[in-house]
Amino acid sequence: MTHTFDKDYWQHHWDDRTSHTVAANPYLVEETAGSTPGSVLDAGCGTGAEAIWLAERGWQVTGADISATALDAAAKQAESARVDATWIEADLTTWNPTERWDLVMTHYAHPSIPQLDFYRHIAQWVAPGGSLLIVGHLHHGAQHHSHDGEPPHEATVTVKDITALFDASSWRIDTALERSRTVGGIGVHSKTLRDAVVRATRLI
Ligand SMILES: C[S@@+](CC[C@H](N)C(=O)[O-])C[C@H]1O[C@@H](n2cnc3c(N)ncnc32)[C@H](O)[C@@H]1O
Repeated sequence: MTHTFDKDYWQHHWDDRTSHTVAANPYLVEETAGSTPGSVLDAGCGTGAEAIWLAERGWQVTGADISATALDAAAKQAESARVDATWIEADLTTWNPTERWDLVMTHYAHPSIPQLDFYRHIAQWVAPGGSLLIVGHLHHGAQHHSHDGEPPHEATVTVKDITALFDASSWRIDTALERSRTVGGIGVHSKTLRDAVVRATRLI
């Protein structure tokens, strides 16, 4: 099934899901190990698991999302965790902040514009010397038809396509990997996610 991934879609998506608490994404945990805390923008933060995890470790966090419902839940969870964070409701495909961040990260955000255009747009917000961390749904291959519960084709990417966005004179690719992981419990309740993970550092 094809979606438009607009504001209505995401508001509806979050209507009955905000009570779920999720652990921070394991790639974020790996990719920030040993980093000095700085400013971070979570682009498409949902209910804020990753943003809050970094705030608990001393980062100055901004979480941005198109869904007010998700942001309300994120703010409540931050309050329970007793951490400060700034939550911004915005359509990131048209948002033009003047601020730049030491880390811009996005986990599985798929908006209404093509996925690679979204990554190119948010890459502008990385401060010189800062990093962009992208965790996306890995492309299944041309012959694959999406099943229920799987991301639709247009929300998927390859590591090769993501890394091709970055000009070597301005960016260094630090991580480029494809991985599978199982989430969500045992047996029929579990599902396998196939992920594309890229971390790039802005040189200038
Ligand atoms: C699949 S959820 C992932 C949420 C969270 N990052 C996580 O990993 O659990 C995708 C998120 O991107 C947000 N999103 C989609 N399009 C957006 C847009 N144009 N601007 C801002 N956020 C958007 C959705 O509201 C949703 O919270």
